Amino acid sequence: MSRRLKEYLADPFLKMLYDEVRAAGKIQSISMDLNHVCNIRCAGCYYFSDRMDEGHHTADEAVFDAFIEQEKQRGTNFVTIVGGEPSLKPERLRKIARHFKASVSTNGLKKIPMEGLEENLSIGVSVWGNAETDRRLRGNGKVDIFPQALKNYKNDPRAFWYYTAIPGYAGQIEEVVARCVDNGNHVLFNFYGDLERYGDKLDHRRGFEEVRQAIDRVIGRYPDRIFMTSYVSRVVSTGRLYDQEWGYDVCTSFSTDNPVNLARMKNGHPYSPHFRAYNADLQSTRRCCTGIDRDCSSCFDVWQHFSWIILNMKKHLGSKGEFTRWLTTMYMFYLINRLVDFERGSRHIAEIHRRLKEADAGIELPQAEMAG
Ligand SMILES: C[S@@+](CC[C@H](N)C(=O)[O-])C[C@H]1O[C@@H](n2cnc3c(N)ncnc32)[C@H](O)[C@@H]1O
Repeated sequence: MSRRLKEYLADPFLKMLYDEVRAAGKIQSISMDLNHVCNIRCAGCYYFSDRMDEGHHTADEAVFDAFIEQEKQRGTNFVTIVGGEPSLKPERLRKIARHFKASVSTNGLKKIPMEGLEENLSIGVSVWGNAETDRRLRGNGKVDIFPQALKNYKNDPRAFWYYTAIPGYAGQIEEVVARCVDNGNHVLFNFYGDLERYGDKLDHRRGFEEVRQAIDRVIGRYPDRIFMTSYVSRVVSTGRLYDQEWGYDVCTSFSTDNPVNLARMKNGHPYSPHFRAYNADLQSTRRCCTGIDRDCSSCFDVWQHFSWIILNMKKHLGSKGEFTRWLTTMYMFYLINRLVDFERGSRHIAEIHRRLKEADAGIELPQAEMAG
């Protein structure tokens, strides 16, 4: 352990977070589409926008079982489940939860049952805005998804809200978060990429400054309920990490078995060697979880940004405050995904936000971040 790291870990709170993460062990993760079908069509959903369903139809059960075996053999221990809509395939969710820790993203319309899924599963329930906005953008103006999802996941200990924030609807963040918190759940943010170029309120080119400020306000109001930290939010919204600018060349989670990424693997920037993003046929992989060949400047995927920060630990060793930013990012990732004890870990959330505030007061931000 370096002298600096030792010095930072003399702080008992940081040492506790660090030890918990280390005890949980190394994560060997993949993402997979559980199926290629969805019961709604969200406006500009990256999955259908990038035609990820085409030519990659849902594998049959024998292929599914063989896939689980293959990934066990490969040493996979964590699976991010997307699609398509995973709640339409509860039996498959059970099979995954029997063998791996997993995080699933669901639109929330159909409840993921508890039976056989009490353990090993963290459920991110998607929402894009208040009931009216959500109905318009995700429910085709007809389906009341947010109220239904609130009912389905009321006080469900597995669930958190996976809130895709949209620049022109930043003003709704506080009321939506209040409803999620009243519902007994935590909240994580993801940022909308306007792949279909709808423009106006949905245009990510407007920037996420108002979204970022609203997130900071809800952190202040519900410090024990918000999984998103001010640091992660700043990295996603500015696209800056020290000397790096967000994009394909620095993104750390892409399919390492896919020849399309060969040059990226040789460019010297860190990446997750184990990672693969499997299509719904469970045989082919695509470039990365959220893209086939899209321009990464429209990608604000929070998981990929978590990974970007986590794999760039060394950049964060310049001061205790910077190390705090790195370690709390790492810890939140483990906590949200139940890789550390959730009950114990969730008691640290408010202190994590407080420490980050303290760090921000004490660290001069790199020029690039200030400009962003
Ligand atoms: C493609 S969905 C698949 C899982 C599931 N059907 C759901 O709705 O959560 C995965 C996540 O990506 C989010 N998402 C879809 N399109 C997006 C976009 N253009 N920008 C940002 N997030 C997006 C969804 O809201 C959801 O949280």
